[in-house]
Amino acid sequence: CERKDGQPAKQRLLVVANRLPVSAVRRGEESWALEMSVGGLVSALLGVNDFEARWIGWAGVNVPDEIGQRSLTIALAEKRCIPVFLDEEIVHQYYNGYCNNILWPLFHYLGLPQEDRLATTRGFQSQFDAYKKANQMFADVVNEHYEEGDVVWCHDYHLMFLPKCLKDYNNEMKVGWFLHTPFPSSEIHRTLPSRSELLRSVLAADLVGFHTYDYARHFVSACTRILGLEGTPEGVEDQGKLTRVAAVFFPIGIDSDRFIRALELPQVKDHIKELKDRFAGRKVMLGVDRLDMIKGIPQKILAFEKFLEENPLWRDGVVLLQIAVPTRTDVPEYQKLTCQVHEIVGRINGRFGTLTAVPIHHLDRTLDFQALCALYAVTDVALVTSLRDGMNLVSYEFVACQASKKGVLILSEFAGAAQSLGAGAILVNPWNITEVAASIGYALNMPADEREKRHHHNFMHVTTHTSQEWAETFVSELNDSIVEAQMRTRQ
Ligand code: G6P
Repeated sequence: CERKDGQPAKQRLLVVANRLPVSAVRRGEESWALEMSVGGLVSALLGVNDFEARWIGWAGVNVPDEIGQRSLTIALAEKRCIPVFLDEEIVHQYYNGYCNNILWPLFHYLGLPQEDRLATTRGFQSQFDAYKKANQMFADVVNEHYEEGDVVWCHDYHLMFLPKCLKDYNNEMKVGWFLHTPFPSSEIHRTLPSRSELLRSVLAADLVGFHTYDYARHFVSACTRILGLEGTPEGVEDQGKLTRVAAVFFPIGIDSDRFIRALELPQVKDHIKELKDRFAGRKVMLGVDRLDMIKGIPQKILAFEKFLEENPLWRDGVVLLQIAVPTRTDVPEYQKLTCQVHEIVGRINGRFGTLTAVPIHHLDRTLDFQALCALYAVTDVALVTSLRDGMNLVSYEFVACQASKKGVLILSEFAGAAQSLGAGAILVNPWNITEVAASIGYALNMPADEREKRHHHNFMHVTTHTSQEWAETFVSELNDSIVEAQMRTRQ
């Protein structure tokens, strides 16, 4: 298939994710401001431009009126985005409820909600019904925009029901599904009341992808143990239909060039200079996280406190900058976490601060891209201490910005990224505060040649295994899976 200029036409890709890469804020009846959304998925997919891609997702805002829906659809079209309109009740039950109060904690090994957490919404069954309804609404929009030959790539735990809804519409659709969180051990997944229905819906996809081999293995075990299906080296087989399950090809990456290029911008260079002046004479430690319980922010700050406690000579020599981006602020667990973090930071700053300096600068806000790059570039030690994390791309972004400083990455062994950056980072168990405090000391004192060696390993990985590579590999594997399935049917 060729374009008019003789170049081969790009394959059309419908990327379906709960959240669009831009979130809308209403300015007037027909006027909208579009702001970049936060999160690993958005940051990874920004660099993917080898396809004729359209995004389908929720714009993060309730738009009950027709005028608003029409004008927002037009505004988003310029960004190649197509909105799915979800009303407040659905958002409450599907997004706050089933996705973020049930699946998210469960997939990160934090367990199912007890009665008190369930009681804040209308209980499990109504949340699951809303989840299915929302997934069907996504499917309706995909179906409306689908053209023969398109690849439909569904993302994340919000849309586990979508592959089935799409195949019910049209069994010929090429459907892939990728999970950006961990998939937990089958023993955890089997506690979920809707465990079987979700697994079966995902298996309707032609290709299912995970960041790590362990997540893929857990998924296949869940299908064999809970559904009684057969696991094969390629995936899971159900009555002659094979769903390919793969991880080895598919750890996500970032658009590393975007970060490296940003460091050359005059504004970023100015910003770097300002930060260096501001923190002259002190080593800079950095944490950048969504304010989420899986990120282990309280544990990280307590480990930093322990380090200061045990190393009085460092008290004037180091500062921790913690950027905590507010997220899912309507979910009570997240509100509690905000208070808890503020309380700990206040206590430690009260304990170790002086009239002119505090050890922790904690910001509850997002930073723009250029400010973030400057911050990564001046950092001596980055602390990524998630209790569980599907991948964690902050670790990748930090490495991409460290070509000149060659700072140290302290990384949780429970982040997917530990499997790719493990040889260059200092790996820690984030629950072990004593170990994290010792690692902080080790990182701050690390000799230059060791820092260089570790950085080199990670930099090579981050600049080679990019988000572009990840997307191309997934889509080409999906195309191949379909050809192979057709051949199998013919035999
Ligand atoms: C994680 C999820 C993404 C999600 C992001 C931000 O990275 O895997 O799917 O978009 O968090 O969370 P939010 O609830 O704000 O979309």
